[in-house]
Amino acid sequence: MIDKLMNTAVFKWIDDRSNIGSIIREHVTEYPTPRNLNYMWNFGSLAITVLVLQILTGIFLAMYYKPSAAMTIGGYTVAFDSVERIMRDVNFGWLIRYMHAVGASAFFVVVYMHMGRGLYYGSYKNPRELLWIIGVVILLIMQGAAFFGYLLPWGQMSFWGAVVITNLFGAIPVLGDFIGQLLVGGFAVGDPTLNRFFSLHYLFPLLLAAIVGGHIHALHVVHSNNPEGIDIDHDKETIPFHPYYTIKDAFGVCVFLLAYCYFVFYNPSAGGYFIEVDNYVPANNLQTPAHIAPVWYLTPWYTILRSFESKLLGVIMMGASLAILFVLPFLDRSKVRSARYRPVYRQMVILFFVAVLTLGYCGHASATPVLKVVGQIATAVYFGFFLLLPFVHKFEKTKPEPEGI
Ligand code: HEM
Repeated sequence: MIDKLMNTAVFKWIDDRSNIGSIIREHVTEYPTPRNLNYMWNFGSLAITVLVLQILTGIFLAMYYKPSAAMTIGGYTVAFDSVERIMRDVNFGWLIRYMHAVGASAFFVVVYMHMGRGLYYGSYKNPRELLWIIGVVILLIMQGAAFFGYLLPWGQMSFWGAVVITNLFGAIPVLGDFIGQLLVGGFAVGDPTLNRFFSLHYLFPLLLAAIVGGHIHALHVVHSNNPEGIDIDHDKETIPFHPYYTIKDAFGVCVFLLAYCYFVFYNPSAGGYFIEVDNYVPANNLQTPAHIAPVWYLTPWYTILRSFESKLLGVIMMGASLAILFVLPFLDRSKVRSARYRPVYRQMVILFFVAVLTLGYCGHASATPVLKVVGQIATAVYFGFFLLLPFVHKFEKTKPEPEGI
């Protein structure tokens, strides 16, 4: 089909003037791809799919959404009311809104799997360090976009979540209050905050799209890693991306869409995981909800924040838990990439995944004394993983790697 399309007169006319044909051949259809990639390599194309879905549904939501905390005659805020109108009065508004809300969680599921794959198979190591670092920038922008977006419906959890997180800036000495006020647009979360967050929430995904372009450019300079983690012969051990991987990626998109449609049509709140139950209640600045927690994809970092008695230390450690991802490629000194051939690293990375899941659970549940200790242990394991990495190669007996794939 792609060949047919590229042979049409219209395509040839454009190609003569833009060279687009050879760009498509070099970077898509004939792009040399390792022939042994498993399904864990589907998550990159899935992340692109969800990003496009989020941008498209977001554009349509923004046509009806109104970022204002002013009150309507009915006693709701304009923002909350506009979301209710999208749900009830706009044709297929409910569908677009649920696609966007479920899409936010789907985006993080896909990207966390994508990162987990990178960790397990050592895709962050030489020569893909920059690719990984761009990925971490993408992660931070995604988290920012999700946080800003969550305020927009102006429900109870939106409001109080924003209050808790923006208050954290106050813990930072000297500049903290200034940054907090700049973000909030005053001394307390209110109408100016909503306008700022809406503006940034619109901007960040567009930034993401541009940075993803850089991410893929960086990938095409150094080429894909593979499950064996070994350097390969690009003439003998690769196959053109099309048709094998276009079909495999399309299959992955179909499977993803099945799960996505289940949540969009049958379970959009996912029992309070995707949309908190409290967020169906309009924001009330005089009534704090019994239990304030961010959405599941931010809860691991929230647990790290809560694991320390001092607010400042909590903020520093939360920042450090994200910042340390940038230096990961330089902490790991082993020459072997894939965990398949690194018995010690394999145990460490599995323990790390368990720690992140535990942190996520602790941040979502109410903070009991037991869960607090569990969260602190998981925090120690999280940082322990990174701190141990520079020394693992000294005592790890790696297994022999295969000659080829
Ligand atoms: C919007 C989010 C993202 C998109 C659309 C995206 C897209 C892609 C695509 C299409 C690939 C090639 C296919 C594949 O290997 O799966 C890729 C590879 C890669 N990405 Fe991402 N990515 C995103 C986020 C991230 C993040 C957050 C990280 C890490 C912090 C990351 C790290 C990597 C690495 C290391 C590779 C090379 C994998 C290998 O060759 O083994 N990406 N990305």
